[in-house]
Amino acid sequence: MISPHGNRLIDRRSKDSDRERILEGFSDYHQIDISTETAQEIDNIANGVFSPLEGFLNRNDFESVLNDGRLSSGIAWTIPIVFDVDDKDLGRTKPGDYLGLRLNGKSVARLLVEEVYPYEKSDFAEKVYGTEDPKHPGVEKISGMKEHLVGGQVDLLDDIGNPYPEYTLAPSETRELFKKKGWKTVVAFQTRNTPHLGHEYVQKTALSMVDGLFINPLIGKKKPGDFTDEVILESYKALMENYYPEQTTAMSVLHTEMRYGGPKEAIHHAIMRKNFGCTHFIVGRDHAGVGDYYGPFDAHEIFDEYPEIGIAPIKFRSFFYCKKCSSIANDKVCPHSGDDIVNFAGRKIREMLSQGQPPPLDMMREEVAKTILKYDNPFVE
Ligand code: ADX
Repeated sequence: MISPHGNRLIDRRSKDSDRERILEGFSDYHQIDISTETAQEIDNIANGVFSPLEGFLNRNDFESVLNDGRLSSGIAWTIPIVFDVDDKDLGRTKPGDYLGLRLNGKSVARLLVEEVYPYEKSDFAEKVYGTEDPKHPGVEKISGMKEHLVGGQVDLLDDIGNPYPEYTLAPSETRELFKKKGWKTVVAFQTRNTPHLGHEYVQKTALSMVDGLFINPLIGKKKPGDFTDEVILESYKALMENYYPEQTTAMSVLHTEMRYGGPKEAIHHAIMRKNFGCTHFIVGRDHAGVGDYYGPFDAHEIFDEYPEIGIAPIKFRSFFYCKKCSSIANDKVCPHSGDDIVNFAGRKIREMLSQGQPPPLDMMREEVAKTILKYDNPFVE
């Protein structure tokens, strides 16, 4: 089985006796209320999804991620996992102290403060997203962040709540699942969308080369106009029940935020799937893109900078429907263009669905469209 990123699967979930002891002393810690998104990142650190991270980035690592796309140890890492606070949050906290972290009033984690440091938002935005445009959702998020960052190891103490427990697997569990299925090579598919036929062909073409396909929709904060988590999950269930063999496909969700970071996020997406035990990762057209901030194949090229990453990208050019071929194709296998081809434009598909119309059958499976149309509003507001 493929090694986790950094060679060790991190586990920062406190075990029973430790947990009780920590919770008994929790009231001595200076306490901060955290957002669901921060709690989710802590959960990902604790479960090993972000291996080798054991906590939020310290300054050295933060700057190294921005400037070199690597942790200071040299290990590939492109998206800073950071915890922002202001003076009020910190009180008199100093390095070496623990912070008690509460989610909706519940004590869920603690953080050993190693460093509190300043950062420049414009630099952060430019280096991760390649733009400082406040309209970019990742940049917009940075502009709303608090003034300092706190680095340090975390311990997860309690369940942070999960609307989809039956579709959630930790990396240790997916690794077990792949072993049980007898898969030596597994290709991961990242998505933030309901499936159209382009997605299906990308997945099935990749699956023809390996033992198993792991569909891993991203569940968590997304921008208005994207599909809601429930709609994504339900539409994939409909697709898989009807069109995917059980022995070669599996699905569980990934709880994290979409950052719309194009190429840098593609590397981050691949690293998380390596931790889940996948050997291959699908990178198609405009992976994790938004608007026109990135070229359609920037996310292909960035993998050349990380030849040692360990999970192999399977790169696809745009799949489209070709009327002349009467099939789904791409420009590597089909010579037609112009009016002969119909692109899978997400915008067009969303438009049809929002008017209550199922997209044509050469764009979206009937079962998938029906599932989406059951919802009054399938989109994030
Ligand atoms: S993403 O933000 O998660 O990348 P989406 O869920 O639409 O968005 O895409 C999931 C994966 O499918 C990405 O790797 C993306 O590049 C790929 N993809 C989506 N549409 C196509 C297409 N028509 N042709 C090739 N790849 C595609």
